[in-house]
Amino acid sequence: MQRFSPRLKMTAEMVRDGAVAADIGTDHAYLPAYLVSSGTCPRALATDLREGPLRNAAETLAQLSLSDKIELRLSDGLDGISSDDADDFIFAGMGGTLIVEMLSRAVWIKDKTKRFVFQPMSRPEEVRAFLISNGFTILYENACFDECRPYIAFCAEYSQAEAKDYADSYIYTGELFRCKNDAASYHFTKTYIYLKKRADALEYANLLPDEVEFIRKILPDIKQYTKIQAKD
Ligand SMILES: C[S@@+](CC[C@H](N)C(=O)[O-])C[C@H]1O[C@@H](n2cnc3c(N)ncnc32)[C@H](O)[C@@H]1O
Repeated sequence: MQRFSPRLKMTAEMVRDGAVAADIGTDHAYLPAYLVSSGTCPRALATDLREGPLRNAAETLAQLSLSDKIELRLSDGLDGISSDDADDFIFAGMGGTLIVEMLSRAVWIKDKTKRFVFQPMSRPEEVRAFLISNGFTILYENACFDECRPYIAFCAEYSQAEAKDYADSYIYTGELFRCKNDAASYHFTKTYIYLKKRADALEYANLLPDEVEFIRKILPDIKQYTKIQAKD
């Protein structure tokens, strides 16, 4: 198999030992191939919206003699998948907005026996907001550098937790604040700078005062996990 990237390895580490995994938006199926060949998963399902990526996936599986252990399936998000298909469901390399759209259409996800693993490329706060307002608990998060870019991943399970238990800033910090590595602090620094610039621009244009107030309120919480000095 091609080099298995630190980003995908970090994501794979959140899948439970012995779980049947479903990789949603699999492209080359590198992630399920790693999970099965490393012995973490006895078998897996690899899905994609398009035929082209599934052809890439079929090639990977043929090269690694894994075609009998990993099923390929054409599916838009979770639409063609049922709760019985897997234990752990992975959403990697896609934007947070798309991930939330997929989750919103699947009523069966509120099942305490299932685990959901996310590696959003953008808007992780949308995924966290969906999770906490739908009774899921984020178990843990991690961050890593891959070719000098920071990536984050987190996993969650349904627990009927109530959204009111969380601070406003939680959708931006999640459980990542517990992860003290450089990639996490780089991620928080990028988030802090983006939000501060957005609040400044909105305020300057006299737009969306509620959003400006919200951002100003949560900025100190995010800042403490960055390498930005207190006076900045
Ligand atoms: C950037 S690739 C990520 C591949 C792999 N998961 C990774 O992290 O390296 C995104 C993949 O998601 C697929 N995709 C996009 N929208 C999708 C949807 N609604 N349902 C399933 N797959 C989708 C794309 O076809 C593409 O193969």
